[in-house]
Amino acid sequence: MKPTFTTLQIAFLFLFISFKSFSQTYAENGMVVSDHVIASQVGVDILKKGGNAIDAAVATAFALEVTHPEAGNIGGGGFIVFMKSDGNVTTFDFREKAPLAASPTMFLDENGKIKDNSNHQGLLAVGVPGTVAGLYQAHQKYGKLPWADLVKPAVELAKKGFTMSWGLYNAAVRMTDRDPSEDIMQNYFKGKDGKIVKPGETWKQPALAKTLKEIQKHGRNGFYKGWVAQEIEDYMKANGGIITKADLEKYEAVEREPVKGTFNGYEIYSMPPPSSGGVALIEMMNLMEQANIAKVEFNSTAYVHLVAEAMRRAFADRAEHLGDPDFNPDMPLDRLLSKEFAKKRFETLDMTKASISDPAQFGHPYGGDNTTHFSVVDKDGNAISMTYTLENSYGVKMGSDKLGFIFNNEMGDFNPVPGETTATGQIGSNPNLVAPEKRMLSSMTPTIVAKDGKPYLVIGSPGGRTIINTVFQTVLNVLAYDMRVDRAIEAMKIHHQWLPDRILYERNLLSPDTREALEKMGHTLTPTTNLGVLMGITYDASKKLYTGAADSSSEDGGARGY
Ligand code: DON
Repeated sequence: MKPTFTTLQIAFLFLFISFKSFSQTYAENGMVVSDHVIASQVGVDILKKGGNAIDAAVATAFALEVTHPEAGNIGGGGFIVFMKSDGNVTTFDFREKAPLAASPTMFLDENGKIKDNSNHQGLLAVGVPGTVAGLYQAHQKYGKLPWADLVKPAVELAKKGFTMSWGLYNAAVRMTDRDPSEDIMQNYFKGKDGKIVKPGETWKQPALAKTLKEIQKHGRNGFYKGWVAQEIEDYMKANGGIITKADLEKYEAVEREPVKGTFNGYEIYSMPPPSSGGVALIEMMNLMEQANIAKVEFNSTAYVHLVAEAMRRAFADRAEHLGDPDFNPDMPLDRLLSKEFAKKRFETLDMTKASISDPAQFGHPYGGDNTTHFSVVDKDGNAISMTYTLENSYGVKMGSDKLGFIFNNEMGDFNPVPGETTATGQIGSNPNLVAPEKRMLSSMTPTIVAKDGKPYLVIGSPGGRTIINTVFQTVLNVLAYDMRVDRAIEAMKIHHQWLPDRILYERNLLSPDTREALEKMGHTLTPTTNLGVLMGITYDASKKLYTGAADSSSEDGGARGY
């Protein structure tokens, strides 16, 4: 008997073919790709209601605070790169700031050594949060729908709860192993029975719902003033922190010009300082243009060598020059971003052997563990690339029971010991020393590549210093190697950050022969499990079609479109 299909089966098959092809998702009107499918859907629902990409980003960001609390946050900070439908690009900087009472030696003991890991652990490690101010400012300037409508889905998710996933459950169990000095809100992951909510059960966050409700009602003042600000100050005082209501009241997000580069006719827009991501990305893309990388076979010895040497140079320049622009007005950004500079840098690169990273010499002779990224596009061609973070997974692992959210430990991104740069990668240069109200240098690299003035690739990743390199290689994979977005995201990545002087590579994805050839050239290679959790969208102008892909290493992540 011949198989027959019901109308429903045919409809389902059609839906599957048109909108989902294994790891890619297609959409004609708008799309959100984030670390949690519920948050992606929240963003798409806002787009369907007539919201623009900014509105969807605000709603997605608040929803991620609820569904992906290891990195989604209101207690941290981040960056937005926003390409408007008219082709103009702007950025929002809502990076955390050092508190007013901070100083360059605040983490050191009397011998000049870092005391008790205090730049990463305990409330001294917390920077003044910027997320609510950044989202609010971006919405005030470019949003379409009312603010309250955008915060509402997160309030509801926190109040009514959502299904606990295995990924979140495993993380919650891991968190019970934390240092006893860290509280991560004693009952945070627990249900009424006092046990961690199990996968498949509903996890509710009533304290967070109340805080979000205050932000929904009063905008940025709901966080930086009133009872929330008072509780932040009280909690800090009671537990050894130094952030006060004055710090909160003074916090401002900043709209900044993006950094811009080109690669083989594409325009690349990314985040300027206080993130180092955009500058390093463009410097490396310029080097790749010099190397005519498209002619070098992907994953070959020559490819890994060239890419690693570009990384080594860009990270040395990052360490020497970059920090908060408000405190470093003379950073040589134009030079670092120029094609002539890349040409000079390229001349120092020997195709037959590895260069050496010397902590005593920055530019010469070459001249955490959790964050979350999401990408948004809307029907008018507006695009958002947003990365925000608590620094480590679950930040400082501390927060007030009354507020229901976790604070960042972003102060660890400052250079902790003035003047001390070590072979293991601790940097001691001046531009990124701690100072009151200064923003710590970031590696977050939210990026938009444009073609003919329209978004072509929207991309970003978590991963600390590896962010710059995983975004760099994904951009390269799409622009130079013509990979579709999901393949570009999954393809083998390496990481070199000048110091320590070694190439990290993804285990099982680089052949032993290639590794041996690289070792003979003087490289040290170290395997790692995974590099990057990239969330990307590409646009095909000829088909008027968006294609989205979430990195398979994101346990709950996914693309949603309409
Ligand atoms: O801003 C930065 O560069 C770091 N605080 C980001 C930390 C991070 O990505 C950890 N994620 N996996």
